Amino acid sequence: MAPGLVTPEKAARGKLPTDVWWHTIVSPTGREKTGYPTQKPVGLLRRMVAASSAPGDWVLDFFAGSGTLGAAARALDRRFVCVDDNPPAIETMRRRFGDTAHYLSL
Ligand SMILES: C[S@@+](CC[C@H](N)C(=O)[O-])C[C@H]1O[C@@H](n2cnc3c(N)ncnc32)[C@H](O)[C@@H]1O
Repeated sequence: MAPGLVTPEKAARGKLPTDVWWHTIVSPTGREKTGYPTQKPVGLLRRMVAASSAPGDWVLDFFAGSGTLGAAARALDRRFVCVDDNPPAIETMRRRFGDTAHYLSL
C-alpha cells in the first residue's frame, strides 16, 4: 500500500502473512465481475490456493458462490470441485466455466 517505504531488499525478504489481508475489491466495471452478490476477488483465492496446494492437486469449495476458488484453481493448474445449493450460483459458475467443467445436480 506504500511502495515507497519498501526497499528492494525488504521486498526480497518477503513478509509472513498475518490474519488480516488487504486486497482490492472486484471492480464493479471490470472483466472479473460475474454479478454474483458475494463474489470475492480472484487474487485473494489465488493466494490461498498457491499457498496450500501444488499443481495437479484437488481443491474443494463447499460454499463456492460464483466459483472464484475454481477460477483460481484453474489458473494455477489445480483440479477443483465447487459446491453450492443456490441455483443462481450454479448458473454463474456455468457461465464462468462453460464446457471446461462437468456439472452435477443433486
Ligand atoms: C460468501 S458466498 C461464497 C462466495 C464465493 N467465494 C465467490 O467468490 O463467489 C457463500 C455461498 O455459500 C452458499 N451456501 C450457504 N449455505 C450452503 C449450504 N448449506 N450448502 C451449499 N452452499 C451453501 C451460498 O449460496 C453462497 O453462494
